[in-house]
Amino acid sequence: MNSDAISSIVILTGAGISAESGLATFRGPDGLWEGHRVEDVCTPEALARDPLLVHRFYDERRAKLAEVLPNAAHDALAALDAAWAGDLLIVTQNVDDLHERAGARRLVHMHGALNSALCAACGKAAPWSGALSPGTACAGCAAPRLRPDIVFFGEMPYEMDRIYDAIAEANLFVSIGTSGAVYPAAGFVQTAREAGARTIELNLEPSAGSALFDESRMGPATRLVPDLVRELLQ
Ligand code: APR
Repeated sequence: MNSDAISSIVILTGAGISAESGLATFRGPDGLWEGHRVEDVCTPEALARDPLLVHRFYDERRAKLAEVLPNAAHDALAALDAAWAGDLLIVTQNVDDLHERAGARRLVHMHGALNSALCAACGKAAPWSGALSPGTACAGCAAPRLRPDIVFFGEMPYEMDRIYDAIAEANLFVSIGTSGAVYPAAGFVQTAREAGARTIELNLEPSAGSALFDESRMGPATRLVPDLVRELLQ
């Protein structure tokens, strides 16, 4: 690839980039959602109906973060972030902290983060580790309304203006480890194409959006991502 022609990159990541670190994906054979119906753990209605189940589901996933490490794919993206002189934005659908633990800085968590708690009363988010019980008080407004800082289905993802602004300027859009099953992230590739960007998919298997990419490379992220970063930094 002629990286000289590339000045601005947007990279979308999904659960597949963290799979080789030992975190379950959502729609694979042992997918997380298979353990729970989405409607039971990842909607505002679920939180209202059974707060203990929802908090426990995210408490388990938050606790798991202490057992896993960033993999070579996270490390390669962090190295690209550090070395890339042009514009770059990593947009992750993941709520794990592996990108930041690898050292990524130009990063957006569009679906929220496990290591953050959100006050449903005042809207403020704060770093959070450990269990989060229903009725925990917000340090800012004191309302007993802290919840997992996760964007539930039906809620607006975070930083969408920043994401679309970056895609509008991108001349390379790379999608890594996502099934292309959930919007608005699944529509980013089309938006990037319309902005004239070259589009590349790195995934273990064809995704719902594979046909939309200029190039689809199939394989594990820990091999494909370091290879692509080497091409970009050569
Ligand atoms: N390397 C590369 N890709 C992989 C690997 C791997 N080692 N392992 C799995 N994959 C791919 C799978 O082939 C699949 O296409 O990663 C993708 C994971 O897809 P999903 O489980 O659907 O996860 P994701 O696309 O991130 O889901 C998007 O849906 O459930 C919501 O909010 C949730 O952010 C999530 C969103």
